[in-house]
Order: sequence, then structure tokens, then C-alpha cells
Amino acid sequence: MAIRLLVTGGAGFIGSNFVHHTLAMDAGHTVTVLDALTYAGSVSNLAPVADRITFVHGNITDAALVDQLVGEHDVVVHFAAESHNDNSLSNPRPFVDTNIIGTYTILEAVRRHGNRLHHISTDEVFGDLELDDPAKFTSRTPYNPSSPYSSTKAGSDLLVRAWVRSFGLQATISNCSNNYGPYQHVEKFLPRQITNIIDGVMPKLYGSGQNVRDWIHVDDHNAAVHNIIDKGRTGETYLIGADGETDNKSALEMLLQLMGKPADWYEHVSDRPGHDLRYAIDSSDLRAELGWTPQYTSFEHGLAQTVEWYRANEAWWRPQKDATEARYKTLGR
Ligand code: NAD
Ligand code: DAU
Repeated sequence: MAIRLLVTGGAGFIGSNFVHHTLAMDAGHTVTVLDALTYAGSVSNLAPVADRITFVHGNITDAALVDQLVGEHDVVVHFAAESHNDNSLSNPRPFVDTNIIGTYTILEAVRRHGNRLHHISTDEVFGDLELDDPAKFTSRTPYNPSSPYSSTKAGSDLLVRAWVRSFGLQATISNCSNNYGPYQHVEKFLPRQITNIIDGVMPKLYGSGQNVRDWIHVDDHNAAVHNIIDKGRTGETYLIGADGETDNKSALEMLLQLMGKPADWYEHVSDRPGHDLRYAIDSSDLRAELGWTPQYTSFEHGLAQTVEWYRANEAWWRPQKDATEARYKTLGR
């Protein structure tokens, strides 16, 4: 059935890929993007589909605007967030404003209009796991966030749960692991190192590089989100992951090899304060209930495609690069 989708944060990394994915499905859905175009968002992410969507430049904390837009759509898919841990350590305030107040603003509008909400969240709400722990995160894992970013995301999830229970909101939540793919801002680990290597600059590995992330291609994440919107049970939380556990040092070595550099061509820099050790998702509930499976089964193959995308789209990332590296320089990283 064709639905009118309101996509918050649709000019960012995952949100813009979601818009591309949605239009490629050709299901007749209409898409409106609401995005504040912070440093992390760009209309250029939506350029290939600009004539097929409605773009609204606005803030999710603007209650009147959010109320009007929510009233005009069937389903709200809420991606908008401040998303970068390092930034949350230097300046937490925008994280509280957008991730908590922004989500609250959306919840109140959805409550008034009685429509469907899907809230996008992260595996970081669960804190971290030991390297040698056989356990993975499940939807029963208690919340234990570490950073200002992850604690504001945890807060936003708890608000959604409270609105479901107290007001009967028709909402679902998904918590996904680390995404990679096209249109990811160069502040994030993989695009930062890909663009450093293109520039002839040594990649930067935080601390020992033993930290483990559970990589998933952004298209697999977005396919799961569509499954949840179509078939998910309201009130439910779904964990999305593709069994992509890789330590940062190994991920970097794979990247160096793909880009024709020696495996030790990187430097260790100071560690992120409070750096989460390991994330790992058990997505068996999602797979069993909704029949989702990831299409990108080889991280190396997906990474090679991503490298090619950054090589082919320098005009897209170049304007972000200097300011991003200047920010890292002030942090000594
Ligand atoms: P991003 O930083 O690339 O994009 C965020 C987008 O939100 C940008 O377009 C930005 O302009 C917009 N935005 C920020 N504040 C806003 C506001 N107040 N009003 C309106 N728009 C605003 O983030 P991303 O990596 O695409 O992450 C999207 C969502 O997915 C976030 O909720 C994040 O927590 C979640 N998530 C990300 C990952 C990951 O690996 N990147 C993994 C799991 C979950
Ligand atoms: O797990 C999901 C989360 O993944 C999302 O909720 C976040 O929005 C997203 O940013 C991501 O968080 P991380 O902090 O894991 O991602 P980041 O790309 O910043 O870092 C990945 C790992 O790489 C982490 O262990 C820190 C390390 N790192 C990062 C940078 C930028 C480095 O070693 N060197 C770097 O230069």
C-alpha cells in the first residue's frame, strides 16, 4: 500500500540512503524530508532524487512545523539526530536538544495525530561488551549507555517506550550497529581513513585499535527498517545487525590493503575518553519474525564498493574534509 512518509534527518547519511532505497522500491510511497541541514546534512545527498521528493528545511524541535508535517503524513521515520560520539564529548548540548527535545516534539505531534512512528536508534544504548564475552546485545539487554551521544539516544528510546505504554502510541524502535556505505560524513571512522588515504595522509587509529564494531551496510539497515514499517508489531523493539564484528585495527588493515598501501601504514593517536570496547548484535529475533536477512555478507566486498564511491565522489566529500580534520587536530586525534 502506498504511504506518505515523513523522513526526519533525511539529508544525513542513513536517512538519505533510506530515501534512495524507498524510491528505488517503486512502491508508490511519497517522501517528505524534514532536515535542519546541520554540518552533517546536505541537500547534495538527495540531489539524484530531488525532483521526486519534498524537502523541508526545518528543525525537529520546532513544534508548530513538526505538528503540521506529521498531520500531513501517514508514517514518520525518525532518523534526525546528533550522531557523532566525539562531538558529544566536546559539546553535549546539541545532543540533548535534538535527540531528546526533538524526539519529544515528534512524539507529541504523533500522539495528537494518531499516526505511525518508527524511531531509529543505536546499539550504543546498551553500553559495551568485553572482548572475550560470548554474549551479544538482544532486545532484553539492559540500557547502560556510556557517552553523551549514547545516553541521549537511550533517553529518546525510553521516551518512545513511555509514549507507547502511557498513550498507546503506534511506534516501533530499531537499534542498529555501525553502518557503512555512501554519503557517510568524513568525521566517521571508515570515510575519514578512506579520504585520508586518498589524500596521502596516514590513517589515525584510536588507542590500541582492539575495539570491536559490528559493521552493517547501510542498505541492509534500511531494508530492515522497511520490513519493520511494513510488518513490525507496534510497541516492539528490533535489533538490526549483520554479524559483522571486526576490530578497528583489522578493519583499517583491510582498507589499506584494498587501497594498495602497506598494512602498517597508519598511526596510533590518543584514545577517545570512555571509548566503548565492543558492540555485537544478536538479530535473530528480527530475522525469525520478519524474514529479513542482510544482502551484504562480505564486509570486504562492501568496503571495496564504498572505497570506489569515495574515489568517484570527491566533489561530495572534499568540502567537509578540512574543517573535520581541523576539529580532530584540536582534540589531538
Ligand atoms: P548523520 O549525522 O549523518 O545525519 C543526521 C541528520 O539529521 C543530518 O542530515 C542533520 O542535518 C539532521 N539533523 C540533526 N539535527 C537536526 C534537527 N534538530 N532537526 C532536523 N534535522 C536534524 O547521522 P546518521 O549516521 O545518518 O544517523 C541517523 C540516525 O541513525 C541517528 O538517529 C543515529 O543515532 C542512528 N544510527 C546511526 C548509526 C551509524 O552507524 N551511523 C547506527 C545506528 C543508528
Ligand atoms: O554503533 C552504532 C554507532 O556507530 C552509531 O550510533 C553512531 O551514530 C555512529 O557514529 C557509530 O559510532 P562509533 O563511535 O562506533 O563510530 P565512529 O565511526 O566514530 O568510530 C568507529 C570506531 O573507530 C570507534 O571504535 C572509534 C574508532 N576511530 C574513529 C575515528 C573517527 C578510530 O580509531 N579513528 C578515528 O579516526
